[in-house]
Amino acid sequence: MDKRKGIIVSRQIMDSQKLHPEATGELTGLLNELIVAGKIISAEVNMAGLADILGQSGKTNIQGEEVQKLDEFANQTIKRRMEQCGYICAMGSEEDDGVIPVLDGYEGKYTVAFDPLDGSSNIDVNVSIGTIFSVHRRKSRGKHGKMSDLLQKGRDQVGAGYIIYGSSTMLVYTTGDGVYGFTLDPSVGEFFLSHPDIKIPERSKYYSVNEAYTKYWYDNTRAYIEHLKDLDYRGERSYSLRYIGSLVSDFHRNLITGGVFVYARDKKSTDKPEGKLRLLYEAAPLAMVVEQAGGRAITDDGRNILDIEPTDLHQRVPLIIGSKEEVDLAEKYFTGPV
Ligand code: AHG
Ligand code: MN
Ligand code: MN
Repeated sequence: MDKRKGIIVSRQIMDSQKLHPEATGELTGLLNELIVAGKIISAEVNMAGLADILGQSGKTNIQGEEVQKLDEFANQTIKRRMEQCGYICAMGSEEDDGVIPVLDGYEGKYTVAFDPLDGSSNIDVNVSIGTIFSVHRRKSRGKHGKMSDLLQKGRDQVGAGYIIYGSSTMLVYTTGDGVYGFTLDPSVGEFFLSHPDIKIPERSKYYSVNEAYTKYWYDNTRAYIEHLKDLDYRGERSYSLRYIGSLVSDFHRNLITGGVFVYARDKKSTDKPEGKLRLLYEAAPLAMVVEQAGGRAITDDGRNILDIEPTDLHQRVPLIIGSKEEVDLAEKYFTGPV
């Protein structure tokens, strides 16, 4: 067994910090704050099915508090934790339009962008959901953080990861020196290292895509997915489809078992010409994780997700992410004739 298995998450973060002699401990502090928020959300997610029952009226729970929707709860929990932690100057959330300020006097040198609860269609049906986060160093000077501090490319992230609320709660994160996975022991409220130095299998036999949209796909998406299925017919490799419908869960599955997740541009809705997923708090953080694990993340015109200069907090981006060999193949389909 790996000797580090079982160590607690704060030690792993501190050990990573030691690789950067210039570090002051603020990133360590910030990650620890995010982890506490994740534990609070995890506890609430585990109570999800009971909230209405305990609330009787459906509006208040047993303590007389209003029952919140889980994604609102997750958003509030992270914002409250972050606004007073002293390590960030601004936040961006999927659930809020613009820059979210921190409390006056608590400005720090980082920014955080997050999807408080990814997989909204799965929240009420007991299927894995998660929180995705992305951390950048602030660029602007002055007291308050600005939009420009949030609009930074994925390549400049100093940390990224997610907390998945599944059959167990897991934290997966990177600060640029490998990917580490921790499992929450709910009896003591501590994350223990369960997946040291995660590497995504280089070739795989799973693909994840919403295949019901086939009729809305562009030709290259259709040809790529057909190629994967044809391999099956020729017996070279037998692909299986896995689509959970929460990005964080589909991604996590593919990270561990190998696989490719595809959400390319399609003709389904005219208001989402770039696909559905968001660059800053979905695609970019998962792209950092996958690259650190040996995989790849590109757009459907072959750009590396991490090299995209964001122009909008909520901009969408076509995403092909996962095992290297399957993304290499996708790149051929998406950048020219095969
Ligand atoms: P969110 O719940 O944060 O709005 O994200 C939902 C996203 C993502 O998690 C998932 O991969 C995708 O929606 C699924 O979309 P389709 O239903 O169009 O397949
Ligand atoms: Mn999401
Ligand atoms: Mn969400």
